[in-house]
Amino acid sequence: YCRVGKQSVLIMLEYNTALLQFKSQAEYNTFSNAVKRCCSQKEENSVFSQKTDEASATQYFQFYGCLSQQQNVMQDFVRTATYYRAIVQNYRDFTDKVVLDVGCGSGILSFFAAQAGARRVYAVEASSMAEYAELLVRSNNLSDKITVLTGKIEEMSLPENVDVVISEPMGYMLFNERMLESYLHSKKWLKSNGMMFPTYSDIHLAPFSDEQLYMEQYSRANFWYQEWFYGVNLSSLHSAAVDEYLQQPIVDTFDVRILMAQTVKYTINFMEATEEDLHRVEIPFVFQIMQSGLIHGLAFWFDVAFVGSVVTVWLSTAPTEPLTHWYQIRCLLQTPLFAKEGETLSGKVLLVANKQQSYDIQIVAMVDQTGFKSGNIIDLKNPFFR
Ligand SMILES: C[S@@+](CC[C@H](N)C(=O)[O-])C[C@H]1O[C@@H](n2cnc3c(N)ncnc32)[C@H](O)[C@@H]1O
Repeated sequence: YCRVGKQSVLIMLEYNTALLQFKSQAEYNTFSNAVKRCCSQKEENSVFSQKTDEASATQYFQFYGCLSQQQNVMQDFVRTATYYRAIVQNYRDFTDKVVLDVGCGSGILSFFAAQAGARRVYAVEASSMAEYAELLVRSNNLSDKITVLTGKIEEMSLPENVDVVISEPMGYMLFNERMLESYLHSKKWLKSNGMMFPTYSDIHLAPFSDEQLYMEQYSRANFWYQEWFYGVNLSSLHSAAVDEYLQQPIVDTFDVRILMAQTVKYTINFMEATEEDLHRVEIPFVFQIMQSGLIHGLAFWFDVAFVGSVVTVWLSTAPTEPLTHWYQIRCLLQTPLFAKEGETLSGKVLLVANKQQSYDIQIVAMVDQTGFKSGNIIDLKNPFFR
């Protein structure tokens, strides 16, 4: 709704528009304050604000409000071209359909949906990027098809239910950003026979051996080994510094020959999963070790599948596939574990969501035949870009 003159408001309802004229400015103020209270209550109680620290959200949406950040993801050719293929090749699922784009950013996926024949696309974006998306919609003469709605999906009201939800909610190691939950939240607007694009995701993990990486991270703490830093002995903090560096997930890529076993796969089906399922994710594993050596940690990557009625399209971030802006993620063990070919490494990865839009990751692992154990606590919010 918006103010008109001193004591009137224009309210846009689903299909109609009403002009309310108040007798006095005082009456107008009472009405306006009530509406503001209502809106802020809705925000305070929303699923998004309950799961997120305000400071984290502010920084997060400032980041995505930058054209340079949208450009960064748009320029990831593997990502954007695969989304394009998934949507346009499955034109049958979009033709004359109502689509919801969750976190539309520049609006690029909404444009793909319009090109695939969508009758109407609701493009929801919480950052200030929504204004630029609106500008692109207007300058591409698609205002009759794409409606940009500014706000968080959790606090948004749509005029109708939708046939398809499209989104690109994947962060580092799939889970970072906790946007998958916003994607799942949007299912409240999905018709009972509706589709989710992407439809499901597989996260893969495997033990790796990389002495150089381990030593690199370890020696970053050498600074704290100094006993005479401007006359101060820093060495009592050395072991805390080692722990901190080893707790950073490493974002880079690697040769698959460092992997010591076949991957274990954990699937999240976006048609079935609920937001709560992602608050605590437990991934048990048993790896059959294929080559003897030191295990320094676990490597992670993910694939997503778009299951359409024409084709199923895969977007993969595997180390065997062309590199994407997600790279792969490696989590180190506090102490490396020796295992021989034919032995098994078992344990679990526990991901616990936090209010910084990320996860605390606990890894425990044991070589079953020797009883050697190791593990680590990893802070997904604090990655090291190698
Ligand atoms: C990775 S970007 C993808 C942008 C665009 N869909 C694309 O594919 O290029 C994710 C976008 O979702 C937005 N976003 C994240 N959480 C959101 C939420 N809860 N409600 C609305 N927008 C959200 C971010 O601001 C960001 O612009």
